Amino acid sequence: MDPAVLRGMRRRFVLMAGEYAERLGPRREHIVLKRDHSLRVHALATKIVARESIAPAAPYLAAALVHDIGRFSQFERFGTYRDDESVDHGEEGADFLRGTDFLDAFEPQVRDCIIMAVRLHNKRELPPRLDPLTRSLCAVVRDADKLDIVPVVLSRLGAVGPKDGVVTLGLADEPGAWTEAVADTVAGGESPAYGDLRYINDFKLLLASWGPSLVHGASRRIFAGRGYLDRLFAMLPQSERFFGLKTRLAGALRR
Ligand SMILES: [Fe+2]
Repeated sequence: MDPAVLRGMRRRFVLMAGEYAERLGPRREHIVLKRDHSLRVHALATKIVARESIAPAAPYLAAALVHDIGRFSQFERFGTYRDDESVDHGEEGADFLRGTDFLDAFEPQVRDCIIMAVRLHNKRELPPRLDPLTRSLCAVVRDADKLDIVPVVLSRLGAVGPKDGVVTLGLADEPGAWTEAVADTVAGGESPAYGDLRYINDFKLLLASWGPSLVHGASRRIFAGRGYLDRLFAMLPQSERFFGLKTRLAGALRR
């Protein structure tokens, strides 16, 4: 695909975000946050696809760009990014893309796979039977998405003053508290469900658990290279329990 077509898609995406931001006035920063996240996920997908020699790259880069396109209408309609309190933003984005010509530069079959990847990007588990291109798109988009969410949350948690409830999902800000069942799930090599989180520390544990779960070696190397594990555990209570957990996750990340 001509790189100019992808650049055009990127431009159109940015314009669309701008329209939502304008309508939201003082709450526009939440739209800007998702716009910038989408552009960084797009850039991360470019890296992963290149390092894993996946070709052609265009469907992956487009899927990464639009994976969160449902966030704009979700925030405008409900004022939250919590899917459990509003709509599933993967479904919202896929339905939106179905009704527009946004992806018309792709053949219908490829377009369907991109839309399916948007629908599935935020699901806890992928369906066992999936078209190979859809599965491959999901792997790259989900890896890139996780790689960018971690620093966004880290920077917000590290900021001075009251925490932004939209970013921290409205979880309880008690520096010494965590949910034992969440720590057990992470220690067992699994990722806890969002619904099981009670404290901000639980959220940090969830983010740490994502590293070893990344599909591509290139993604795991980015997670390790950017020091996300160290940064997350530096913000958790300094105990033997968490030191052991960090060592275990660091080992799993090198697999
Ligand atoms: Fe998303």
